[in-house]
Amino acid sequence: MKIENSNWSHRIVVLLLVGFSTVVSAESMFVPVGTAEDIQYSQQLWDAMVQERIEGEDRRVNPPFFGGAKPHGEILELSYQNLVVGGHTGFIVVKRNYGTVGAPGVRGHVTVESVSVDRNKYLNSITVMYQREDGYDEANQNWFWAKYQPGGELFTKAIEGKKTQLAGRLLKGKQQQDNSGCIYCHSSAGGGDYVFYPQIIP
Ligand code: HEC
Repeated sequence: MKIENSNWSHRIVVLLLVGFSTVVSAESMFVPVGTAEDIQYSQQLWDAMVQERIEGEDRRVNPPFFGGAKPHGEILELSYQNLVVGGHTGFIVVKRNYGTVGAPGVRGHVTVESVSVDRNKYLNSITVMYQREDGYDEANQNWFWAKYQPGGELFTKAIEGKKTQLAGRLLKGKQQQDNSGCIYCHSSAGGGDYVFYPQIIP
């Protein structure tokens, strides 16, 4: 009886330990995003984009086209090139998303023509992926992800119950099934480079 008892408590301890370590590893799988470093880097990246006239008042424009795939905008504009940020040369893809998918009165009203006439009026967000230095995120080809508002401010979103600026390794860990994760969704792009458009070759 005594032996059985201690067996039981031993088992409970083991179960508790297993349970605890599962929680711990799930916690540690989540890579923090929107950190001070991420925000600072996103600003540095934005400044480089303005300097190279990818964004900003003197930006070089590219032809808008109809995209319409969720979750990005309805009318889209792409820029891609090499860009130097803090001495590192990396490939950048910038996607301007015009119109809000699903917003009442927008779908079907924002057209390539209307965007061409007044881009500022319809610009909703600027989604960016930039290939950082080796070691930044080896498992995901070192892409840095950010979602900017038209003026260069970051979008925010509640992540893990916390209002978070959208910049960094978005998102790794717990919320993989959350379809707002850039990495999760873009990992299904053909060629394994996280880029959907076949004409864009990092
Ligand atoms: C639910 C899936 C999904 C999520 C989440 C997603 N994307 Fe995309 N993304 C796409 C698809 C599909 C395309 C190509 C079609 C289009 O442009 O809409 C694309 C295209 C892009 C492009 C143009 C380069 C390319 O891959 O061809 C950029 C840049 C981009 N996304 C950035 C982001 C960023 C930054 C985030 C996170 C804030 C994000 N995406 C989240 C599906 C997704």
